[in-house]
Amino acid sequence: MLFPRMASRIVERLPRANRGRAVLVTSARRGEGKSYIAARLATALVGQIDGAIALVECSTGSPGSSDGTVASISWTDLVTNRSRAVPPPAILGAGALVRIPCGNGEAATPFRSAGIAYALNLLRERFAFVVLDGPILSDTGVLSACSDGSVIVINARRTRREVVRGSLRAYPIVPEKLLGGVLNEAPRYVPKWLYRRAL
Ligand SMILES: Nc1ncnc2c1ncn2[C@@H]1O[C@H](COP(=O)(O)OP(=O)(O)O)[C@@H](O)[C@H]1O
Ligand SMILES: [Mg+2]
Repeated sequence: MLFPRMASRIVERLPRANRGRAVLVTSARRGEGKSYIAARLATALVGQIDGAIALVECSTGSPGSSDGTVASISWTDLVTNRSRAVPPPAILGAGALVRIPCGNGEAATPFRSAGIAYALNLLRERFAFVVLDGPILSDTGVLSACSDGSVIVINARRTRREVVRGSLRAYPIVPEKLLGGVLNEAPRYVPKWLYRRAL
């Protein structure tokens, strides 16, 4: 897969904005490569976007990357920040690519809509682009609604299209915000419906 091309196609599909845009990376099932794809996307964006990129681990699991610098504040801290104090810039990390670790308590975060709106707002002010390495669709809560777009990672070897469709029916994403599927570990054959929307 050509990651710079995937990144530019994702950026093209997002509305323009005068602050940072946020994209959620999710999937129907666990282990399909969300963290892997989110990290490749964030790295590819460094060369394409003017400004810093944040890669946010919104769920626990192995991080998809060790690139960039790590912020000293976690996603959980940002979402649950009761004082709503704005962390000093240094705490949010410096450099072209900053990783924001998940922290503890991730299980409770996807449905904290006020906290997520606050955290994303803050990240959009500080970063030109925010890549959310999200949980699976059933656990995304308000994350997709709070993002500018979502991409669905599909492991082409083990997840059938019915599973993805079923998941999207149960946990819908508004069509304008559904940017498309990213086929991970694809064999040569790509189903047509995916091919049309594949990034
Ligand atoms: N395209 C790929 N090439 C090589 N390894 C991959 C690829 N996609 C995923 N992996 C590996 O598969 C495992 C599961 O992927 P991960 O990104 O952690 O899934 P998820 O975040 O969706 O649970 C990880 O060890 C990851 O490094
Ligand atoms: Mg993961």
